[in-house]
Amino acid sequence: MAHSVSNLGIAMDRKLGVIGRQAAHCETHGEYLAVLIKAGGLSGCPVCAADKRDMEELERKRSQFRARQHELARIPKRFIDKTFDNFEASSLGQKVAYEAVAEYVDNFSKHRREGRCMLLLGRVGTGKTHLAAAATSFLINQCMVRAIYRTVGNVISDIKATFRDKSGDSEARIMRELIEADLLVLDEVGATKQSEFELATLFSIINGRYEQCRPMVIVSNLSPAELDDALGARCVDRIRENGCIGVAFEWESARGAHA
Ligand SMILES: Nc1ncnc2c1ncn2[C@@H]1O[C@H](COP(=O)(O)OP(=O)(O)O)[C@@H](O)[C@H]1O
Ligand SMILES: [Mg+2]
Ligand SMILES: [Zn+2]
Repeated sequence: MAHSVSNLGIAMDRKLGVIGRQAAHCETHGEYLAVLIKAGGLSGCPVCAADKRDMEELERKRSQFRARQHELARIPKRFIDKTFDNFEASSLGQKVAYEAVAEYVDNFSKHRREGRCMLLLGRVGTGKTHLAAAATSFLINQCMVRAIYRTVGNVISDIKATFRDKSGDSEARIMRELIEADLLVLDEVGATKQSEFELATLFSIINGRYEQCRPMVIVSNLSPAELDDALGARCVDRIRENGCIGVAFEWESARGAHA
C-alpha cells in the first residue's frame, strides 16, 4: 500500500515543507491526520486521494481500451453513430427487436458464459445493421467487451489479400482475430452465393468460436430456412446450440424514411 502523506518521516516532512499536523475528519473514511504545509493549507483525506488516483487511472485505461477496440471493431463509418437511443421502435416488431438486442447486451456476460448466439434475420432496410452496430459500440464503450463487426465480404477479402502478400502468418492472424474476439458480429451472411472457399472459411470461424464457447451475432437478409441452406447444417447447428436468440425483422424498409 502507498504511504499516506501523514507518515513519511521527519526527513521527508522537511523536504515537503510540512510544519505540523492536526486531526481531521473525512465524511467517508473517518478520522485522519492532516498535515499543515509551509505554503499554507491542510492536506485532504489520503484514502480519498488514493481512490481518486485509482479512478483516474481506471478511466484512462478505459478510454485507451475504447479507442483501440473501436479501431479493431471496424464498424463502418455510416453506422458508427447508430445507437439504441436513435433506433426508433414505433411498431411492435421494432420494439421486440430492440428489446431482444438490448437484453443481449445488458446480459452479455451471461450469454458469453453460455456461448449463446443471436440471429438477426429479415428484410433489407429494417435496421438489422443499425442494431448490430449499436450493440457492438455499447459493448465496447460501456462493458469493455472486445466486440468486432465484420461483413462476410470483409472477412473473405481480408483473407484473400493475405494470399498476395507473402508474409505467411497473416491468414492465421486474421483467423485468430475473428475467433478470439469476445463477440463477433457477422453481417451480410448469405448475401452472395458462397463459393466452397467462403463456406470453408465461414465454417472455420464458426467452429473455432463454437469450440471456445464464444458467441456470435449473425445478421442476414435470408429467412431461417434460407440461412440453413446457405450455411449448411454443420454451421447452423453450432450457431443454434445453447438456445440461440432469433429475431425476425419483417416490416417495411426504413431506408427511405431515415435517409
Ligand atoms: N427503427 C429505426 N430507427 C432509426 N433508424 C433506422 C431504423 N431502421 C432502420 N434505420 C436506418 O435505416 C438505414 C437502413 O438500416 P440498416 O440497419 O442498414 O438495415 P438492414 O441492415 O436491416 O438492411 C440505416 O441508416 C438505419 O440507421
Ligand atoms: Mg444491413
Ligand atoms: Zn476520505
